[in-house]
Amino acid sequence: MLIPREIIEEIVNRTDISDLIGSYVTLKRAGSNMHGLCPFHSEKTPSFTVFSKSNSFYCFGCGSGGDAITFVMKAENLDYPSAVEFLASRAGITIPQDKNELANMGMSRKRVYEMNLAAAKFFRENLFDKSVGFDALNYFVGTRKLSMATVKRFGLGYAPNDFFALTNHMKKLGYTEQELIDGFLCGRSKKGHLYDYFRNRVIFPIIDVTGNIIGFGGRVMDDSKPKYLNTSDTPGFKKSKNLFALNYAKNHCSEQLILCEGYMDVIALHAAGFENAVATLGTALTQEQARMMTKYTKKVVLLYDSDDAGQRATDRAIKILSEVGMDVRILKLNGAKDPDEYIKKFGADRFRALLGESRTGFDFKVSRALANLDLQIPDEKIKASAAICEIIADSASGVEREVFLTKASELLKLPIDVLRNNVEHIIRKRKNEQKKDESRQAQMSIRNIGDRINPDAVKFVGANALEETILGLLLIYEEYRAAVTKGSVSLVADDFVTAFGKKVFSTLFEVYNSSDEFLPAMLGQYFTADEMGRLEKMRQSRLSLTENGRDVLDASIAALKAEKEKKLSAEGGDKFATLRAKQEKLKNQRK
Ligand code: UTP
Ligand code: MN
Repeated sequence: MLIPREIIEEIVNRTDISDLIGSYVTLKRAGSNMHGLCPFHSEKTPSFTVFSKSNSFYCFGCGSGGDAITFVMKAENLDYPSAVEFLASRAGITIPQDKNELANMGMSRKRVYEMNLAAAKFFRENLFDKSVGFDALNYFVGTRKLSMATVKRFGLGYAPNDFFALTNHMKKLGYTEQELIDGFLCGRSKKGHLYDYFRNRVIFPIIDVTGNIIGFGGRVMDDSKPKYLNTSDTPGFKKSKNLFALNYAKNHCSEQLILCEGYMDVIALHAAGFENAVATLGTALTQEQARMMTKYTKKVVLLYDSDDAGQRATDRAIKILSEVGMDVRILKLNGAKDPDEYIKKFGADRFRALLGESRTGFDFKVSRALANLDLQIPDEKIKASAAICEIIADSASGVEREVFLTKASELLKLPIDVLRNNVEHIIRKRKNEQKKDESRQAQMSIRNIGDRINPDAVKFVGANALEETILGLLLIYEEYRAAVTKGSVSLVADDFVTAFGKKVFSTLFEVYNSSDEFLPAMLGQYFTADEMGRLEKMRQSRLSLTENGRDVLDASIAALKAEKEKKLSAEGGDKFATLRAKQEKLKNQRK
């Protein structure tokens, strides 16, 4: 029997891939990824990468890659079902043995929401119960200066300093141990009993746009660590797909959204009358969140913390938001570390004035680049113009580049033509490097493994590259999969030239069409671990590109169809050739 999606989803959600792989390989953090020596081939310099964002790994040396299940298949030499079992027992999940058990296990979203609502009520009652929540209410109202109205509006609460308070309460309400664990309200101790996950923390319910409570954040009231605990992804809750307070902000953001880092920033902003503020939930902004914002508004003001991490996150967010077509403005706070502190120190009016002074992404990046340079000193002026030209070259729009060039020319007091030449040179150089990279990678993969995974790739190098691009995009983006299913992008298995490409395409859509929500790890049931590595390569090479995915998809499909034509007519030609050869032979025999 195929392993049900619910189980795989559960296992994938509950497995932290860097944690898992970290128990086999020493990993070093590099930005949001981790690097290490590949456990699947011998190497001296690390080319093995774990991507926390996509919950996957890939080795640029030997091409192995995939998700947590693929990793266990390779590392423990197990087949798919055994690898699933391995991870299930590691995560403390019992795999149901029959349909009945399964029906009981897969917790429906509705049940999760209902359970969270009951928990939120419990937390709120404890906050307002003087004998339990006195310090917590004092923390919100006294220390953080929230009004009672704000405390109530955001449904804030308190998780008592007790290992069993919520557990016992929820059990009395009829929730099973498994449900409480699945919803991340409880953990299970080594001895086997349940305990409250949130203890002695003030609680922030996380509510989705339709008003369901999808999870919680819990903050300590002192300086202990970790400062916040958050619900992990559950059937109802995907961090990467939600924004804190969007349920309120969606009605106030036709002009613009304000995006900040923390729960408390959002609450302080709303309380001060800026009800268009939202926050990501303890993670960097994702493309899904950016795309979700476009449903409600066209413009977003980035208001991240003024520390270094916040400013780096701003850089990344500018890129992600621009890619989805959002008009991005950046606000830098002076004299306060975050919006919450700013409003407390300077008040709502000063903040409103500041909002009017938000800068464009270009201005933000330029002022960062110029931060330590003195334009009066020739050497530094040269450095500054080089840095600014790099920034201008990032823009994909010719008109935008011209606008930036005009600004830069005024700022640097250099002729616009000189700068324009520079920018064009950078763009050409980048394109060449990208091409070189791609052909180097293609050659490497052919030389290293003679392409056992996709034998046709050697014969049809061009078509294979196109197929990998197309499949990479389809593996990553829900909207493109939907477009293919609906037929607004015309693509069928027969458009593929290589047998492997065809198989990936058909399998992907078979899995996609057979369940409500597509889960890449489901593909592991149809492919070997080595083949999963190739799928991961397709995804990673797409993730690293910045161009507009839809244009790339359309152009690649058109080019692939042309390649297919070429292949068919070549085969047709061959057939005629053999026919002619046969006739010759017959003729000769007759003679
Ligand atoms: P901050 O540390 O800036 O927190 O983290 P904050 O919101 O300003 O909190 P206060 O003002 O000290 O109460 C920003 C966000 O990152 C996430 C939370 O979502 C937080 O709101 N975070 C932070 C965590 O998830 N875990 C942590 O341990 C810390
Ligand atoms: Mn803060």
